[in-house]
Amino acid sequence: APGGPLRGKRIVITAGPTHEPLDPVRFIGNRSSGKQGYAIAAACRRAGAEVTVVSGPVSLPAPSGCEMVRVETARQMLAACEELMPSDVFIACAAVADYRPALETKHKVKKERGGLTAIDLIENPDILREIASRSANRPGLVIGFAAETDDVLGHAESKMKRKGCDWIVANDVSPGRPAMGGDQNEVTVLGFEGDKTLPLMSKDALGDMLAAMIGRALGG
Ligand code: PMT
Repeated sequence: APGGPLRGKRIVITAGPTHEPLDPVRFIGNRSSGKQGYAIAAACRRAGAEVTVVSGPVSLPAPSGCEMVRVETARQMLAACEELMPSDVFIACAAVADYRPALETKHKVKKERGGLTAIDLIENPDILREIASRSANRPGLVIGFAAETDDVLGHAESKMKRKGCDWIVANDVSPGRPAMGGDQNEVTVLGFEGDKTLPLMSKDALGDMLAAMIGRALGG
């Protein structure tokens, strides 16, 4: 393992979207590319950590030196994360589907057989909340993300409280903003030494900033 401020630390990070199946060929998903999570993983690795990425379906090469666990659904992502506990740090960068289709049909839905004009949804587990509220083996530092389109900081702050994480990285995912799918991000990190507002920067640069902040918080 490389040296650096995070040497010897175990970090688990979720990245990418989840796909929630409707039938064997269709799913409900979102526009997360995995770029931000993979950039943070690579940066933490460069800073010396042992990093495992629990990744939803994306088309990116694995970040160098990181362990990969590939999943599709929110339920699989939660199971994979729980299996990887305890870790020193948990980072929830994935855009997890809050809901999934209540029924997954075994056969392809066919228009000729009545088709499908409405989809019943049921709630998925909240991975960040589950990990942050563990009574045993809770990571020492739990970092969430908040993807918001209005009152970004207000909503992020209440999300941090509701989910029980230590920091939350608030990003604006309004149309035209680069966070979701683009190569840059502009965030405020709530909970780190008060709140820290960072300028627009590449997702790689933000990864390095977060790795440095984690190093400081862990006293490295
Ligand atoms: O992948 P990219 O294209 O690079 O885009 C990066 C990003 C915009 C996806 C990323 O920066 C980001 O904001 N990720 C969080 C997206 C999200 O789902 O936010 P949320 O506000 O819905 O969820 C809040 C937090 O709870 C997040 O840490 C999320 O991972 C977590 N969560 C949400 C629902 C759920 N069922 N389980 C969770 O763990």
